Amino acid sequence: MSFVIAVDGPAASGKGTVAQRLAQAYGLPYLDTGLLYRAVGVTLIEDGLSLDDPEAAEAAARVLCLETLDQLDLRGRMAGEAASRVAVHPGVRAALLELQRGFARQPGGAVLDGRDIGTVIAPDATVKIYVTASPEVRAERRWKQLAGLGEQVAYDDVLEDIRKRDARDGGRDAAPMTMAEGAQLLDTTHMDIEAATDAARRIVEAARAAGPTGAQG
Ligand code: DC
Repeated sequence: MSFVIAVDGPAASGKGTVAQRLAQAYGLPYLDTGLLYRAVGVTLIEDGLSLDDPEAAEAAARVLCLETLDQLDLRGRMAGEAASRVAVHPGVRAALLELQRGFARQPGGAVLDGRDIGTVIAPDATVKIYVTASPEVRAERRWKQLAGLGEQVAYDDVLEDIRKRDARDGGRDAAPMTMAEGAQLLDTTHMDIEAATDAARRIVEAARAAGPTGAQG
C-alpha cells in the first residue's frame, strides 16, 4: 500500500524541514515542490523574460526536469518572489502537475511539500499536514536563513515579503494555498524544529493507527 504524506503551508513555516525529516524517518523519497516554481521563475529571469508572461512561464515549466534543478541557484530571496509570481499562471501549474503526481505515485509512497499538495496534487494522501506559524516568527526564520546564505536584508523587508507572498499565494484563483480537507494543523509559532518534527510524527502515527481509510491504493 502506498504511503503518501502531503505537507502544505506558507513560506518559512518549517514545512520543508518537517517534510524532509518525515521522509527520513519513514524511508520515503521527498520532493520540495517549491523548487519547481522557483526554477521556472529563475529560468525566466535568466532568459530576460517577464514573470508575468503566462506563455513564456508555461513554456519554461514544460521543459523543466527534476534532474537539472540543482544546476540553478534557487534558495535566495529573488527566487522565492519569482516563484510566487509564476505560480499564479494556471498553465504553469498544469505543466508541473503530472511531474508531481508521478512523484507521489511511486511504489511505497513519497513525501511532498508545497501549497497545493493536499488539495490538488495528492488529494488522497494518507496523511495531510498544514504547517503554519505567525508571520513575525516566519520572517525571523527566513531572515536568519537569508543571512546564512549571505543575503543582508532588513527584517522589516523580509516581513513585508512574507505578507505579500501569503496574500498572493492564498489569493490566486489557480490552486490557492489553503488547508486541505482532512488536513491536520501544525502551528509551529512556539516550537523549535525538534518539537515540530515530533508533533508531525504524532500526526502521522495517529493517521496510520486509524487504518487505511483515505490511503492511496
Ligand atoms: O515553498 P517555497 O517558498 O519554496 O515556494 C515558493 C513559491 O512557489 C510559493 O510562494 C508559491 C509557489 N508554490 C506553489 O504555488 N505551489 C507549490 N506546491 C509550491 C510552491
